[in-house]
Amino acid sequence: MNTTTIEVQTTLDSTPSPSIRETSLSSAQIIGYDHQQTVGRITVDNPKMVCRDVNVYYAKKCALKQVSLDIGTNEVISFIGPSGCGKSTFLRCLNRMNDTIPICRVTGEIKLDQDDIYDKSIDVVQLRARVGMVFQKPNPFPKSIYENVAYGPRIHGMVNGKAEMDELVHESLERAGLLKEVESRMNEPGTSLSGGQQQRLCIARAIAVNPEVILMDEPCSALDPIATAKIEELIDELRENYTIVIVTHSMQQAARVSQRTAYFHLGNLIEIGETDQIFTNPRHKLTEDYITGRFG
Ligand SMILES: Nc1ncnc2c1ncn2[C@@H]1O[C@H](COP(=O)(O)OP(=O)(O)OP(=O)(O)O)[C@@H](O)[C@H]1O
Ligand SMILES: [Mg+2]
Repeated sequence: MNTTTIEVQTTLDSTPSPSIRETSLSSAQIIGYDHQQTVGRITVDNPKMVCRDVNVYYAKKCALKQVSLDIGTNEVISFIGPSGCGKSTFLRCLNRMNDTIPICRVTGEIKLDQDDIYDKSIDVVQLRARVGMVFQKPNPFPKSIYENVAYGPRIHGMVNGKAEMDELVHESLERAGLLKEVESRMNEPGTSLSGGQQQRLCIARAIAVNPEVILMDEPCSALDPIATAKIEELIDELRENYTIVIVTHSMQQAARVSQRTAYFHLGNLIEIGETDQIFTNPRHKLTEDYITGRFG
């Protein structure tokens, strides 16, 4: 019989063994709708962030249920799934942006390296410098292009003097692939740039404070295909130095930019795996329905 080994995550322990029970299935066999646990290997060898048993409530409503997942160092991981399934909610857990929503409550454990990011001792401003965020709609500050990038390093006291700041601003814009386009207009407002340029400015702003992880919530949904291609190229380059988590509604984008993909459905993490496997050989029926366009 043509068989393949898959891992079904059965407990939330971070050690791959014995928490992962290996199940032999026919390659044609698919896990049915009623299977409740995450399918696929949630652990990685070199995790940057480790999330265990994460639940999120908006008042009494549970929006994210028992999500456990590692995010690997220098990987790009995509979160996909139908609208309202909890992708942004989970993304916001990773740098405590949910703290800004009064009715929102997060339980479980999320670690960045060895640090429990929900520990009382954590400085949330520092955390958000380590775990930066780029939003769906480009949101430059109402300041000059230069100041948009210089703002973070200044409030974090990262540089001494103008020459150092100039260097950091230029380097961040260069890394975001924007320097050539804005070199001669540094004092113009950030909002005077095109949508795609504004999004790269926001990426430059995130990079300037030297983050370790960059969270991107549908960063290209307001952009045309050319601007989108530039951001995707950039994501690929940035992976050398950063860990990137991207929420996207475009399965083509997830396939182009990410090494692993996580599929969410109604607040559950249904399946996680190598991006190729998720798109060519999904193991859960719900994942299959979504990628074949039967749902969402
Ligand atoms: N601030 C909030 N207050 C109350 N409920 C919220 C809030 N934000 C999200 N929710 C609810 O939590 C659930 C998950 O929402 P979330 O925004 O995380 O979904 P999503 O997967 O990012 O969807 P989309 O693809 O539409 O952006 C939804 O039912 C949503 O209505
Ligand atoms: Mg969202």
